[in-house]
Amino acid sequence: MVVGTQWGDEGKGKFTDLLARDQDMVVRYQGGHNAGHTLVAEGETFKLQLVPSGVLYPHVTPVIGNGVVVDPVVLIEEVDRLGGMGVDCRKLVVSGNAHLILPYHQVLDVVAERHLGRNKLGTTKRGIGPAYADKAARVGLRVQDLLDPKIFRQKLAMVLHEKNPLLAKVYNRLPFDLDTLADQYLNECGPRLAPHIADTVGLLHDALESGQSVLLEGAQAMFLDLDHGTYPFVTSSNPVAGGACVGAGIGPRHIDRVIGVTKAYITRVGAGPFPSELTDEIGDHLVDVGREYGTNTKRRRRCGWLDTVMLRHAVRVNSLSDLAIAKLDVLDALDPIKVCVAYDVGGERRTSMPYHQSEIHRAVPVYEELPGWCSDLSGVSDRSELPRQAEDYLSFIEDQAGVPATLVGVGPGRDQFIAFSRVP
Ligand code: GDP
Ligand code: IMO
Ligand code: MG
Repeated sequence: MVVGTQWGDEGKGKFTDLLARDQDMVVRYQGGHNAGHTLVAEGETFKLQLVPSGVLYPHVTPVIGNGVVVDPVVLIEEVDRLGGMGVDCRKLVVSGNAHLILPYHQVLDVVAERHLGRNKLGTTKRGIGPAYADKAARVGLRVQDLLDPKIFRQKLAMVLHEKNPLLAKVYNRLPFDLDTLADQYLNECGPRLAPHIADTVGLLHDALESGQSVLLEGAQAMFLDLDHGTYPFVTSSNPVAGGACVGAGIGPRHIDRVIGVTKAYITRVGAGPFPSELTDEIGDHLVDVGREYGTNTKRRRRCGWLDTVMLRHAVRVNSLSDLAIAKLDVLDALDPIKVCVAYDVGGERRTSMPYHQSEIHRAVPVYEELPGWCSDLSGVSDRSELPRQAEDYLSFIEDQAGVPATLVGVGPGRDQFIAFSRVP
C-alpha cells in the first residue's frame, strides 16, 4: 500500500507508478477527483484524478474501489484524455458500489464554502464532501444505479425532493430538473461506463487467491483524514491505511507492506493549521523550485520544513513499514536545512502529536538544523553517489520516524529515484 503522510501531494502517484511495474493490480480505495497524481514517464506528463496510477502498464488492471466517490462525467473525460495520449484504459474496472458525485454535490460544495466565508476550508470544490455526506445519510446514488434506469430515477427523485429546496431556499440557486439529469446520466454515462462496472471485491480476492500482487493507492493523506487529520480542515474520507481495507474490501491480514510517502519538506493546499509553515523567502524558494502549484486546482501550495512530529504520528496510525521520500532534489540549494522535531505548546515540549485542536493551532515548531549539500542531486541514481550531507539528512529522517527509507525521489521522472535500502 502507498499512503500519504502529510497533507497530500507527497508524490504518491510517482511512487505508485514506479512500484506498479511489478504489480498485477493497482486499486484506488478512497477520495475522488480531488486527487491529482502526476506521473512523468518517457518525457510525458500524465495528470490522473480517478484512474489509478498503474494505468500506464498494459499488464496492470487498474481498479476504482467501492470507497471512491466517482463523478462519471469526469471519469469518462479522463479515460478519453488518456486515450488521446495513447494510454489504453480498457482494463479499468469500477466498483458498482462506489458512490456517484452528481452535479448538486458540486454546487453544494461551492455554496457551502461561500457560506463559511473567512472560515472556509479551501476544498477542491469537486463535490467530495457532499457526496460522502449523502453516502453516510444513505441517500447516495451508486455506480451500479447507472445500469438500472428505474432505480436511478426513483432515487434521484427522492434526493432532489430534498436538495432542490435546499439549493433554492437556503442558497438561492437554481433547482435541478429530474428528467434532464436522469436522461443525461442514464443515456450518456451509463452505456459508456457499463463495460467497466464490476464486483471489484470479488475480482480483488480472486487475484489474491491466485497469487497475484495488488498495490493499493491512497489519495490525500494522513492529516487530511476525516478521523485523524486536522479536523475540520480535512477531506471527507479515510486515506489512512485502515481506510484501504474498507474502501477496497480486504482484511488487514492481506496487507504486508505500507509505504508512507513524505516529501523532504512539507506542503499544504487549503486552510488549516501548519506549524512549520514558511511564509518567508525560503517558502517562496520551495514553491518555485518544487513547482508547488496544485495538479488540478492550480492553487499555490503552502510550504514548510519537514515536520517529524507529524511523521511519527503517521508511522503509528498507518503502521508504516517504510518510507518513500520524495523531492529531495528540491532542497539542493538550501543550507542549513531545518527539521521540526518537536512542538513548543505553551512552554511545554511535545514530541508526539497533540490531540487537541487548539494545541495544534498554538504549536510553535522546535527545529534542528542540518547542513545542506549544495549540489545537484537530480542525476543521482545510486546511494553511493549521494553527498554525505544528503545521506545524513535521510538518516536523520529515518531515525526520527523509526522506520527505514526504501525509495528516495530526486526528480519528477519515473527513473529519477534511488533505491535507498532493502525492503524490510
Ligand atoms: P500526489 O498527489 O501525492 O501524487 O503528488 P502530486 O502529483 O500532486 O505532486 C507531486 C509533484 O511533485 C508532481 O508534480 C510530481 O511530478 C513531482 N515529483 C514527484 N516526485 C518528485 C521528486 O522526487 N522530485 C521532484 N523535483 N519532483 C517530484
Ligand atoms: P492528492 O491525492 C492535497 C485538500 C483540499 C482541502 C481539503 C478538503 O493529490 O494528494 P475536499 O475537496 O477533499 O473536500 O478538500 O483537502 N485536498 C488535497 N490537498 N492533495 C490532495 O489530493 C487533496 N485532496 C483534497 O485542498 O484543503
Ligand atoms: Mg496531488
